[in-house]
Amino acid sequence: MKDFNGSTAVYGIIGDPVEHSISPFMQTSAMEKMGFNGVYLPFHVLPEHLEKAIGGMKALNISGLNVTSPHKQNVIRYLDRISDAAEVIGAVNTIVNDSGALYGDNTDVYGYIQGVLKMGKTDVLPEIVCIFGAGGAARGVIYGCAMREEVRKIFIMNRTLSKAQIIADEFSRITGKHIMAFPSDDSKIRDIVPATGLVINTTTIGQLPDAGVSPVPDPSVFHKGQIVSDIITAPVKTKYLRDAEERGALTVNGLPMLAYQGARSLSIWTGMDAPEDYMLTIVRKHFDES
Ligand code: ATR
Repeated sequence: MKDFNGSTAVYGIIGDPVEHSISPFMQTSAMEKMGFNGVYLPFHVLPEHLEKAIGGMKALNISGLNVTSPHKQNVIRYLDRISDAAEVIGAVNTIVNDSGALYGDNTDVYGYIQGVLKMGKTDVLPEIVCIFGAGGAARGVIYGCAMREEVRKIFIMNRTLSKAQIIADEFSRITGKHIMAFPSDDSKIRDIVPATGLVINTTTIGQLPDAGVSPVPDPSVFHKGQIVSDIITAPVKTKYLRDAEERGALTVNGLPMLAYQGARSLSIWTGMDAPEDYMLTIVRKHFDES
């Protein structure tokens, strides 16, 4: 049990629901490891209470909050300032209370990219990237990839082509990268996926309770030399990842992103190096045991 006192800094996560979150355990363990005098708690905040909750953050001098579904977009209107990344993506997952001024940032981008780099034991992403999905999560991942100098081309594949097209147009303009949209049908997947070095699933296809399906129905498009990643964490190993692994691809599940986004938030809040690898170990242990 930690020793709390009058100087203990208070952090937390707001979401609806929030009971499933591993962040309180992960963040508190990391703070303890760093010798940082802080605590991190779950706050179940209903959408209709979001404004009051953020006002309460100021009133109670809560030092920082993570923000999860469904508040990542709506919280922006209550903040004083947000980062460029959060602005472009349209989502905030980290709030810093800077002497009463609330600053919003998005550490999911760092978490995702760092996860692929570390698990792939590389400093650079592949030049050609293919992303399944065009929702909120896709925007962060696409932005993160497009901002990497080495990434030349990004293909967005989505069931609803118009949504992918909107993101492709917007992000091409902002980042100057070659970003194209395609429908995620079988023949297009067969055309595009084999030539891409990084394949990313940001859709909910394959998530529990529908774990038997994959956004890539024909696994023969996967091969050795590719990195195939999924941001789903339930199950940890989706059918899509199993298929890719069987074909010899290097696979990255959703746990590194979860750990590293948290590590980044903790670094921003404390100004200290967060124990990234330790946080991943904690996350992995939790998911293996649950
Ligand atoms: P998030 O914010 O987590 O990204 P979202 O905005 O609801 O969630 O986006 C979900 C993504 O999964 C979308 O790209 C969605 O495709 P559409 O834009 O066509 O709706 C995709 N998706 C979810 N279920 C799907 C399914 N059964 N088949 C194909 N795509 C699916």
